[in-house]
Amino acid sequence: MDQYRIAVIGAGPSGLYAAAALLASKQPVSVEVLDRLPAPYGLVRYGVAPDHVKMKSVIRVLQKPFDPAQVEFLGGVRVGEGGIPLEELRKHFHAVVHATGSSVDRDLGVPGEELAGSLGSGAFVSWYSGHPDFHGLAPVLEHPGVAVVGAGNVALDVARVLAKTADEMALTDIPAPVLEILRGSAVTDIHVLIRRGPQHVRFTPAELRQIGDVGNADVLVHDDGLLAAGVDEPEDKRQKQNLAMLTEWAANEPTGRPRRIHLRFLRSPVRLVGENGRVSGVVVERNRIDAGRVVGTGEEETLDVGLVVRAIGYDAEPIPGLPFDAATGTVPNEGGRVVQGGVPVAGSYVTGWIKRGPTGVIGTNKGDATETVAALLEDLPELPVPPHPEPESLRKALAEYGVQPVDWTGWLRLDAEEVRRGGVRDAERVKVATMAEMLEHAREA
Ligand SMILES: Cc1cc2nc3c(=O)[nH]c(=O)nc-3n(C[C@H](O)[C@H](O)[C@H](O)COP(=O)(O)OP(=O)(O)OC[C@H]3O[C@@H](n4cnc5c(N)ncnc54)[C@H](O)[C@@H]3O)c2cc1C
Ligand SMILES: NC(=O)c1ccc[n+]([C@@H]2O[C@H](COP(=O)([O-])OP(=O)(O)OC[C@H]3O[C@@H](n4cnc5c(N)ncnc54)[C@H](OP(=O)(O)O)[C@@H]3O)[C@@H](O)[C@H]2O)c1
Repeated sequence: MDQYRIAVIGAGPSGLYAAAALLASKQPVSVEVLDRLPAPYGLVRYGVAPDHVKMKSVIRVLQKPFDPAQVEFLGGVRVGEGGIPLEELRKHFHAVVHATGSSVDRDLGVPGEELAGSLGSGAFVSWYSGHPDFHGLAPVLEHPGVAVVGAGNVALDVARVLAKTADEMALTDIPAPVLEILRGSAVTDIHVLIRRGPQHVRFTPAELRQIGDVGNADVLVHDDGLLAAGVDEPEDKRQKQNLAMLTEWAANEPTGRPRRIHLRFLRSPVRLVGENGRVSGVVVERNRIDAGRVVGTGEEETLDVGLVVRAIGYDAEPIPGLPFDAATGTVPNEGGRVVQGGVPVAGSYVTGWIKRGPTGVIGTNKGDATETVAALLEDLPELPVPPHPEPESLRKALAEYGVQPVDWTGWLRLDAEEVRRGGVRDAERVKVATMAEMLEHAREA
């Protein structure tokens, strides 16, 4: 029986669920998972908030195919620009599953967004999560005011991390330089700018509840009396729970806690103002909702802030050589099969955020990957035979591109160093956050 060689690009949840599903199929497949970073797990490692320790334990499930060495990990291998070209990779595999996620910050498109102190949540979250591309970001937290734009769970993560004490954050995996900046933080007021009403938020109730549980901050609701007047009861169960919580909090008064999280409804940033090239304020406009649409009223106020983090969703980077729909930030596909002009591109598949857009929790990617793998397995007998399917061929090609992959054992060495650092701080781990150090620990004999 022929052995089919499959590459999964991206070791985030969707890629690793796809690898697991391929193995579970018991078909004659060999699977290699490539990631541009020397560490696996994608946003579980670099997105899920550091204080969500329980959530991060999903890595025990995601790592399973590597433990018995059934799947090969090739870390530090970027596919596309600056790495190995996709067309080269395709020479070695019968099929490629693209699972590269959506990591590009969206812009608000308002004046002043280019100022220092204006950041996307992708950058800000990556920084506190110890992503090696962002370790130099070092946001300035010297101003008491911060604005966080958006009404999704990422906005809540950012607000919560800024509101907690540095001692609380020391128990997480954040790198030492991040902890130092949080320790020196002058932030007292975190303004969450929500363009619609309390009945429209995209928070999950568990996440919303957590900001109410932050002992270091009061949560204050600014809703122009909307909740007291009564809003239409949402049909969705989660929105109902959110609304009940927000209605209760609307009666909150400041209790003198060191920090405050202000939930400001029906407010949109219309421009960022600056001094000496840095954000010094954000002008917000009051909105009204007209037949479900957000409409500005022209009524403006300026909030005194030194940092604006926009948590308004993500875009994906196009994958050179594959079709891309810029409007949705996804690769056009039918059930995971990449399609161009309605025709499947032989041997090309997508899963996760690059397939369906930047929404959904970790578990959503499991069913998504199962669908993609089912399509791939159905196509297995028809897959084009690559010119170099022999096991060592990719290694040789990578060497020609100057790429020296980090294997699973290398990752485990880096992992052990992080766990060691965690022990010193009473945390499960402390991240190694520069590429040079990551490679040094992964490669040491
Ligand atoms: C800030 C944030 C917090 C979140 N918190 C939670 C939470 O608490 N709970 C929850 O259930 N969900 C959470 N989510 C959602 C969850 O993280 C996503 O559903 C999930 O990570 C999407 O998986 P993915 O595999 O599609 O993408 P990703 O997790 O982004 O993985 C993509 C992988 O591809 C790699 N890659 C990218 N480009 C290349 C390339 N060119 N070559 C090689 N490799 C490449 C990346 O390094 C990365 O490892 C959060 C999302 C965000 C943004
Ligand atoms: N603990 C967890 O389970 C967890 C944690 C983090 C993330 N996640 C998941 O990861 C996914 C991504 O989360 P996310 O928070 O990035 O995205 P999201 O849930 O899609 O929320 C994005 C928010 O940005 C707002 N927005 C978009 N454009 C805007 C603009 N121009 N001006 C003002 N506001 C704007 C949206 O408002 P409108 O609603 O008005 O469009 C929405 O509230 C979600 O599925 C989320 O549930 C889960």
